[in-house]
Amino acid sequence: MTATVHVDLPGREYDILIGPELLDQAGEKIAKFGGRKHVCILTDETVAGLHLNHLKQSLNAAGLSAEALVLPAGESTKCWAELQRSVEWLLSQKVERGDVVIAFGGGVIGDLAGFAAAIMRRGVRFVQIPTTLLAQVDSSVGGKTGINSPHGKNLIGAFHQPSLVLADIALLGTLTARDFLAGYGEVIKYGMLGDAAFFDWLEINGPALAAGDTDARVEAVKRSCQMKADIVQRDETEAGDRALLNLGHTFGHALEAATGYSDRLLHGEGVAIGCALAFELSARLGLCSQEDPSRVRAHLRDMGVKVDIADIAGELPDAQGLLELMGQDKKVLDGKLRFILARGIGDAFITSDVPRDAVLTVLQDALSLKAAQN
Ligand code: GLY
Repeated sequence: MTATVHVDLPGREYDILIGPELLDQAGEKIAKFGGRKHVCILTDETVAGLHLNHLKQSLNAAGLSAEALVLPAGESTKCWAELQRSVEWLLSQKVERGDVVIAFGGGVIGDLAGFAAAIMRRGVRFVQIPTTLLAQVDSSVGGKTGINSPHGKNLIGAFHQPSLVLADIALLGTLTARDFLAGYGEVIKYGMLGDAAFFDWLEINGPALAAGDTDARVEAVKRSCQMKADIVQRDETEAGDRALLNLGHTFGHALEAATGYSDRLLHGEGVAIGCALAFELSARLGLCSQEDPSRVRAHLRDMGVKVDIADIAGELPDAQGLLELMGQDKKVLDGKLRFILARGIGDAFITSDVPRDAVLTVLQDALSLKAAQN
């Protein structure tokens, strides 16, 4: 029951394979690329403990030897020091252009390993084997790679497309419920931004997804990747439509910055809260009906995903402070905040024409709710 989504970028096209037990086929698929019979894996401590032997067995069975560099788990790994360590290690492994580097982990490893592959020897081939829902539906697809700077998230990076994405649905079985639901924030984002029928489908099938239903998980990852592939094919470098994928991210990144990119708020949770705020802002600007943010919030709430600023524990900056954090985001264009707003569920659009006062009011109201609940 493997599904395939093809990313049709001329000269850089690749397949995303989605299904259970794909790790068993990793060696056979990767051996087809040729190059040396030695592959290098970048991974993190958590994934290595759970799945590295399985991947190595699959590679060895296909006649490939494999070495892994195991990095610390967590967002702070997306930094210059770990990038340098990764690139120097790949060079010490004598990786050449035709060889394969494997990014084996969640979004942090995918972004870091992809960037290392982009810059060493002016670009080597890499394969994404995403191990989290968030990475399977978003970060492993589309070629955005990079690391964080003290100035902001993902500010240092390159576009470098993988040669293959293997989204093994079985790997999702080892995620904590919280990590799975954080990834669900990105899944539901696709329905909200461009596919109302997918949103309807998720309202019905979301509980089965969360409970571990393999067919439902394959379907959700496939539809998410298909939508992302369609958008990336239209606009690989985010000159236009690709920014739609940032629905919920302007609010979300500000909340992530305010919580120090820590466990207080996972990226997908920030996206979920950000989507609810983007729909609230859209309704207040008269762009969509008030029922839309209510429906978005109701579904996120039913699924147990964070939905309100009030769901974030601890202190937060005031509304003005959060607005300033939005100004640090790379979605600022000519000093103007760029928002993804919606005319309804499945109908998002990009605009820089958002009155700051309207944003402030939405934030103030959300913060007041938090204050009232404390
Ligand atoms: N995660 C947004 C993008 O890939 O464009």
